[in-house]
Amino acid sequence: MCGIVGAVAERNVEAILLEGLKRLEYRGYDSAGMAVLAADGTLQRRRAVGKVAALAERLVEAPLSGRCGIAHTRWATHGRPSEVNAHPHQSGERLAVVHNGIIENHEPLRRDLEADGYRFDSETDTEVVAHLVARESEAAGDLLDAVRRTLARLDGAYALGVVSADAPDVIVGARKGSPLVVGVGIGEAFLGSDPLALLQVTDRFIYLEEGDVVRLSAGGRIEVFDAAGTPMEREVQTFEHGDGAASRGDYRHFMLKEIHEQPAVIAACLEGRLGERSALVESFGPDAEALFSRVRQVHIVACGTSYHAGMVARYWLERFAGVPVQVEVASEYRYRRVVVPEDTLFVTLSQSGETADTLAALRFARERGYLASLAICNVPGSSLVRESDLSLMTQAGPEIGVASTKAFTTQLTALMLFTLALGRLKGLDAGVQGELVAALRGLPRLMEGVLALDGEIEALSTAFAEKHHALFLGRGAHFPIALEGALKLKEISYIHAEAYPAGELKHGPLALVDAEMPVISVAPNDELLDKLKSNLQEVRARGGELFVFADEEVGMNEEEYVHVLRLPRVHEALAPILYTLPLQLLSYHVAVLKGTDVDQPRNLAKSVTVE
Ligand code: AGP
Repeated sequence: MCGIVGAVAERNVEAILLEGLKRLEYRGYDSAGMAVLAADGTLQRRRAVGKVAALAERLVEAPLSGRCGIAHTRWATHGRPSEVNAHPHQSGERLAVVHNGIIENHEPLRRDLEADGYRFDSETDTEVVAHLVARESEAAGDLLDAVRRTLARLDGAYALGVVSADAPDVIVGARKGSPLVVGVGIGEAFLGSDPLALLQVTDRFIYLEEGDVVRLSAGGRIEVFDAAGTPMEREVQTFEHGDGAASRGDYRHFMLKEIHEQPAVIAACLEGRLGERSALVESFGPDAEALFSRVRQVHIVACGTSYHAGMVARYWLERFAGVPVQVEVASEYRYRRVVVPEDTLFVTLSQSGETADTLAALRFARERGYLASLAICNVPGSSLVRESDLSLMTQAGPEIGVASTKAFTTQLTALMLFTLALGRLKGLDAGVQGELVAALRGLPRLMEGVLALDGEIEALSTAFAEKHHALFLGRGAHFPIALEGALKLKEISYIHAEAYPAGELKHGPLALVDAEMPVISVAPNDELLDKLKSNLQEVRARGGELFVFADEEVGMNEEEYVHVLRLPRVHEALAPILYTLPLQLLSYHVAVLKGTDVDQPRNLAKSVTVE
């Protein structure tokens, strides 16, 4: 999604803003732009369609210079990707705005402004904000006041940055529904939609709250006001992941780096959360034990990959904690007339903690009489975490690749911790708890073993380079893993992929199977193995080529058109975590072969902050 960077500094901000935009590239975008208040009192703007590199070239031809500026990467919502639709948007020659989110009432506002003589250059919803601030500036005392008056007229979601040639060395920012952080420098202040954009200049951040408005001015002055206009002291937090997370190191792509980080981040996710033979319920917050003891049902809501993690958790929670579980995608849940049984815990899963539908689902759920809400999330200080009663951080560290990898396996690990914590309070046998805890501790080492198979998986990937479709099969808790495998393949290689519970094959999808349809299956050694093997025979009998990721002890042999890759033995309950890895690597290598943009696949954004 769109990205914002802003800086009021002691030096020329062009390089700071450009570097910030580069660091935001992972979010997905189609154009970029920058506006700087120059020393001669004028406002100067450069914009370009395509990558930040295109804007950088434009800046080489026509550099910007000044100590205050804003910049943006745009992911088109209203109006096609074009230079004229790229941000910053201006009203006249003296005021510029960058915006993430959607202004839902932009049409009536546009009509009103046009009637008042304002001329629109773009098709965007954002341009109304620029003109509204300009119009309000005539009546307002200053830029802050003009922005506040404008916000009162906006419906929808926004993170905003505004500069005006009439207020040199000032940026006014505001957030509602889209994240915005303030970077605290030494005598300098910065604005960003994501702390990663600013790590080159600071590691200290204020995470603005819903409705906050902020004024950054010369000398590093930062003034935060809440929605009512009351000055607020917001906590300054130090970013703990270091700047290394934002670089690829020796890896060709962030996705590959993040796949290989999984043993380490799973260990980080477990750290301090396991007792000798049980999971520590306190990890979920001081009130968790009292709340979890009362839980009789669980509703899990999430999007995309996070939703798949929720689907796996349903198998675990029902089996080990004995509580009924409902799992739903947030965009459906939020518009349903949900019936909430007494003592139901509402659980959201999100890498970013800013996904618009998941956040809206949480807000909707808060009005529906749930016992409490729990967020399992990778970003501390995100909206989802702040607005939930309980939270558990997945500790994956920043994930840059649009295709989620380590965020997913750490979510699964956190969900197993949740299962164990809830299970203990619901009478789960101590021996079973002990076994699962020991298995969790051994997981990072087993993951290393799977990652060592990378060369063999790469060799398998060549069979997919010319294919247009693929079918993924799994059973039980591995059906969601098949779904996740299919999602990975389609989002980065653009191959159409579908996933089915293997038992559904003969109810329809078997009609698709022929030599052109590779079938990928995960076959751990669990109670459904024999049934899965029969399903795979059905595929072979129709001439389908099989790629099976199987437990090293299952009797499954390589033969013509049946490729078997053996994975290390793992506790069968944790197999969904381990079996995710070969599917990630397979998608990665297929995408590399096809030459797609692995880290920033077309049309997708890392953090989906609009509905
Ligand atoms: C995964 O590869 C996707 N990029 C996407 O499905 C993602 O999981 C989804 O948008 C939810 O994001 P979240 O976890 O940040 O809420």
